[in-house]
This record gives sequence, structure tokens and C-alpha cells, in this order.
Amino acid sequence: MQSTVIAPSILSANFAKLGEEVDAVLAAGADWVHFDVMDNHYVPNLTIGPMVCEALRKHGVTAPIDVHLMVQPVDRIVPDFIAAGASMISFHPEASPHVHRTIQLIRSGGCQAGLVLNPATPLSVLDWVLDDLDMVLLMSVNPGFGGQSFIDSTMDKIRAVRERIDATGKSIRLEVDGGVKTDNIAAIAAAGADTFVAGSAIFNASDYAQVVQAMKSAVAG
Ligand code: DX5
Ligand code: ZN
Repeated sequence: MQSTVIAPSILSANFAKLGEEVDAVLAAGADWVHFDVMDNHYVPNLTIGPMVCEALRKHGVTAPIDVHLMVQPVDRIVPDFIAAGASMISFHPEASPHVHRTIQLIRSGGCQAGLVLNPATPLSVLDWVLDDLDMVLLMSVNPGFGGQSFIDSTMDKIRAVRERIDATGKSIRLEVDGGVKTDNIAAIAAAGADTFVAGSAIFNASDYAQVVQAMKSAVAG
């Protein structure tokens, strides 16, 4: 099992002072910055692109930037995110006609590659590519918006993906995204996740450190 990672989703941050917000969550103990990219095409919302990623790097952010692409097409934007300083890039298989090629594209640029499964996406999309991935990202809400409720059937899916990852013998991360809170993160970890995205739970709180530390304690049991 990998070390625990808390990755605040900046989707719920105050975009008018994004640099300060990212500094604050990292100072609060967060491990990664989860960077949600939405195109109003693959998902019904529009957010931020490579320029903002690059701006965070120029601002001085050295923590891993975990780019979650909810865009279609995928391949066209991947090189821009690599150049902008992304550390890992995850994408939805429904948005790429050549999933293996996209994974290769991401890795050839020196980034880690993740595949994202929506709540209704079958695990069979992992067939033949799981060994080539650095991370599986399981959506526990439908992608597009922060602040949604965790879909309970994801728990069984986490357990199933954990078994498949363990069978590879490789250090592939299992990240869960959507509706992660201090009161359900222990159960999500027990099901087999090691990497946790949390947007509204952290950024809607007045004390980021209190939430991040509560999440880490809950995972540590
Ligand atoms: C949803 C995004 C998530 C979202 C999580 O499409 O991928 O990262 O911001 O937000 P919360 O934690 O509020 O569900
Ligand atoms: Zn996300």
C-alpha cells in the first residue's frame, strides 16, 4: 500500500486569490494540488487550463500538481500541461479514442499517468492498460461539480480495483474523487484507497489544517 496522500481540489478554492489558497492548503499539510480541468463539452462546466497550472508553478508551488482532465479531445492538451508543470495527468477513457496512446503520451513527457473511471464506467477499461498506469482515479460523484454527495456503490468498486492493483504487484495509486469528507474517509481508506481528493470539505472550512489533519488521522486509524 502506498503512503496516504490528501489532494485538495482547487475547484472549491477562491479563484480570486488562487495562489494564496494553494499556499494555505499546502501549509495546512496537504500533499498534492488536485487541478480539475473542465471543458463544457465532456462535462457541463468550464474551469481552468495550462496557463493557470503554469502560473501556480511561477508562484512557487513545488508540490505535485495532480491534473484531472475532464476534456475531449484529450491528446491535444496533454503536451501543454506537461510544459506547464503538471506532475500527474489523469483522463477519462470515454474522452480518448486511443487510451493506450494517451497513456504513452503522458508518460513520454515525464508525467505520471492516471485513468479515471466514472461511477458507471466498468472496470474492464483497465484490462490491458493497468500495468501501464501510475494511478487509477475512481470518481465517487459524476464529474463536473464540487460539493456533490459520495455515491455509496463506489465502496465496492474501490475494493474491486484494490484487488486488481494488488494482483499486478506494482505501486499503482488508487485515488478517490468526489464527496470525500472527514466522516467517510476512514471507510474509503479501509476499502483500499490511498489517495484522497477533497474540495468542498477543505475549502469550505475556516481552518484548512484542522480538516487536513482530521483526514490524515482518520486514515491512520
Ligand atoms: C468533480 C471534481 C472533483 C471535485 C471534488 O468533477 O473532479 O475533484 O472538485 O469536490 P468535492 O470534494 O467537493 O466533492
Ligand atoms: Zn477531480
